[in-house]
Amino acid sequence: MMELAELQKFLTSLTPVSHMQYQLWDIQGKMLFPAPEGSPHEPRISKALQKMAGLVAAEKRFRYGYISKQYFLCGFPLSNGQGMLGSLVAFDPEPCSEALNSPDTTREKAKAMEKFLGNLASLVQANWTAQEEIQELAEELEQSFEELYLYGKIASQIKTLKLSNRMLVGLITSLLNNLRADMAFAILPERQEFNTFVSKPNTDKRLDNALSFQQKLLDYIPDDAPSLKEKYFIINDSKENVSYQRLHRDSYRFLGVMVAHEDNFYGWLGLVSFNMKEIFRQGELRMMVSLAEQLSVVISNTGLYQDLEQFIINMVKSLVFAIEAKDVYTRGHSERVSRLSMRLAKHLGLKGKDYEELRWASILHDIGKIGIPEDILNKPGRLTDEEFDVIKEHPSKGFEILSPVSQLEGSLPGILHHHERVDGKGYPSGLKGEKIPFNSRIIAVADTFDAISSTRAYRSSKSSDEAMAIVKEVSGTQLDPQVVAALVELVEKEGVE
Ligand SMILES: [Fe+2]
Repeated sequence: MMELAELQKFLTSLTPVSHMQYQLWDIQGKMLFPAPEGSPHEPRISKALQKMAGLVAAEKRFRYGYISKQYFLCGFPLSNGQGMLGSLVAFDPEPCSEALNSPDTTREKAKAMEKFLGNLASLVQANWTAQEEIQELAEELEQSFEELYLYGKIASQIKTLKLSNRMLVGLITSLLNNLRADMAFAILPERQEFNTFVSKPNTDKRLDNALSFQQKLLDYIPDDAPSLKEKYFIINDSKENVSYQRLHRDSYRFLGVMVAHEDNFYGWLGLVSFNMKEIFRQGELRMMVSLAEQLSVVISNTGLYQDLEQFIINMVKSLVFAIEAKDVYTRGHSERVSRLSMRLAKHLGLKGKDYEELRWASILHDIGKIGIPEDILNKPGRLTDEEFDVIKEHPSKGFEILSPVSQLEGSLPGILHHHERVDGKGYPSGLKGEKIPFNSRIIAVADTFDAISSTRAYRSSKSSDEAMAIVKEVSGTQLDPQVVAALVELVEKEGVE
């Protein structure tokens, strides 16, 4: 592949053989390939050469003629498949009076030159096109590489199944830092709690009300803007649009992309920049559109995820309802134990996974009662030792029932050991003190407190003061003193419920 410099060398080398000088002109009338050094042309010659280049390119055909009836010159158009590139001009620096040549001779010479320049033009065109293609390819590659790099950097922010504020703030901050903007935002009308706005320092000062500014940027997008088919809208200079101009005294650029998945529209991602020396690049647009698409999938998944979560909660409620339907005296017990357990957990500083595991363990702690005969569960008066042995099986039964549910794995120990006592006299394993899972110790306190303060088959309910007194009495023997202390504090502070 010939470089322009090599081409120039090649054309120059033709001069001694053909006694002609060659020039390469682009379509804008700029001389790309200068005349050989050492033969500076007089202004009138330069002018004539330029004129020839322009005419040839405009008429798209070979032309020839004389400068001041003295110097022979001719030109051949250069084009590629898409359009004119410019022209190739040849000029005889030796004066050769037109008058001395017969018209036939001139025509013959012109004919030969046309053929020669035509071949030369094909060569130049191929080279020129190749050069342009290489240049374009290089630019495209560079841009793709840049996009890929940024994409990897930013897309990692949305590798999640569930929409969260933390994820959106991370994403919007990355957009702001990597896409040469002064503000970036996400507006999700149906999920306003997730609306996110991040700006560069000092940019806030340009705005009286950032939210209203963002909202108006979106409101002014015309419904029939053609780019909306491609899910974006661009204002490259706010001064060129009356509505957008009114929004801010300074000129700004705005790029908005729709967050939409299939037929569902969720909102917009937006970028604003006050730097008018730049424009939004294709790569930036492509990246925003692609990120908005990913975000829309996350939002759509979040809805599915929430449905699934609600489905599971309802299933668990049904299960709990099934146990409580068997035992008329414990109606609402599981839910009350769960609520109190969660309050205790919060008070004790439990977080994250432990907290979630306790939620399931506490609501499902008595699920094993589903396998206990009703006449034992509902027997008024004291149970025989045999009957009590059957009742004592419910934690292990609960453990067995839920063991196949892998998602509940972390909650199983809490269920299995909720009847252990810190003095080791509980069941099913006789675990002591801190050997008992913390979740079980919390459930045990909530369970005991609720059992005493609610009506049971064998006795009527006691007041919460009395219940509290009994709980305190068994602190350190049956119940964990740390959890009992938390209950005392909680009830003093917030009351029973
Ligand atoms: Fe129980």
